[in-house]
Amino acid sequence: MRILITGGTGYIGSHTAVELLNSGYEVLIIDNLSNSNAGVADKIEKITGRKPIFSKTDLCDRSGLKEYFRENKNIDAVIHFAAFKAVGESVQKPLMYYSNNISGMINLLEEMSENKIENIVYSSSCTVYGEADKLPVTEDSPVKKAESPYGFTKQVGEQMLFDASKVSDLHSVILRYFNPTGAHDSALIGELPVGIPNNLVPYITQTAIGEREVLTVNGNDYDTPDGTNIRDYIHVVDLAKAHLSALDRILSRKSSEKAEVFNLGTGKGNSVMEVIKSFEKVSNKKLNYRIGPRREGDVVSIYSETKKANEVLGWKAERDIDNMMLTSWNWQKAISGYKK
Ligand code: WQD
Repeated sequence: MRILITGGTGYIGSHTAVELLNSGYEVLIIDNLSNSNAGVADKIEKITGRKPIFSKTDLCDRSGLKEYFRENKNIDAVIHFAAFKAVGESVQKPLMYYSNNISGMINLLEEMSENKIENIVYSSSCTVYGEADKLPVTEDSPVKKAESPYGFTKQVGEQMLFDASKVSDLHSVILRYFNPTGAHDSALIGELPVGIPNNLVPYITQTAIGEREVLTVNGNDYDTPDGTNIRDYIHVVDLAKAHLSALDRILSRKSSEKAEVFNLGTGKGNSVMEVIKSFEKVSNKKLNYRIGPRREGDVVSIYSETKKANEVLGWKAERDIDNMMLTSWNWQKAISGYKK
């Protein structure tokens, strides 16, 4: 089976490519390298012993994408990761996000239709839930007004699949990720934020390694046990494995629905302080942090109900927050040439 991964040299895409290759799939990767580098394809080969077929291609370059599909036939399914994903940046540059994430996806879906590729696994996000009224969130929890242009592009992407699946042979599995973190056990691939990290865990590891002075905790006066925000952190390898289960489901036509949604989380929430304590425990380092003001757009708490993915996809997250911190720290040390 030939699977095309868009954004496959990115953080979640590269870990998914590893799991697919290890499971015997043939993997093609397109990426415009706006937030990753081509060397990741070599690392994927080093880990699996099998080479993904990489092409530098931009979903927003319609003619280039048309040519790609002309030259690469017999694709059985697409896993679509390629998108900008920094919540804060999307507030500052909304049109860049709408153009890249929405126009890029329209191009992809139209080319898939023209090439009779009927299966797509879509990288969506718990961001679509906004500040949920009831926790844990299930797939039937209301999708609320997006808190950012980024979140809105994920909602539009989902709606495109719901609508297109109704009037065509397109079958979709929509995966709503909670907070991906951690890195591959080999420490050969992991999260590579460009510039100052938006996300908590890379900021923690860059502070611990000495690349950042101090971690600022964005507020500790929330209505939570220790006053800091709660999130459902999920190991990127667990997340990658869920894509295998999603592919199996869609290729085997097990589902009666043509567009199916799954939450991908652990079902457990951890506060910012709990993440920091976990990191200090596994790294045996005292983290330099201070309490700062709240961050605009943060939801207070969100974590998932994982029953549907467990029972219908037959997938369950296996790794805990300590392993997420340990693999993140090992990865940070590997990329920073850290000597003890
Ligand atoms: C987590 C908590 C911050 C940095 C992410 C992705 C988004 C989506 C959902 C994929 C918050 C706090 C952070 C820092 C801090 N994923 N924090 N100091 O906001 O839940 O969103 O997951 O679609 O794309 O961005 O994750 O890691 O930014 O923040 O205190 O330096 O950590 O305020 O409470 P978030 P995050």
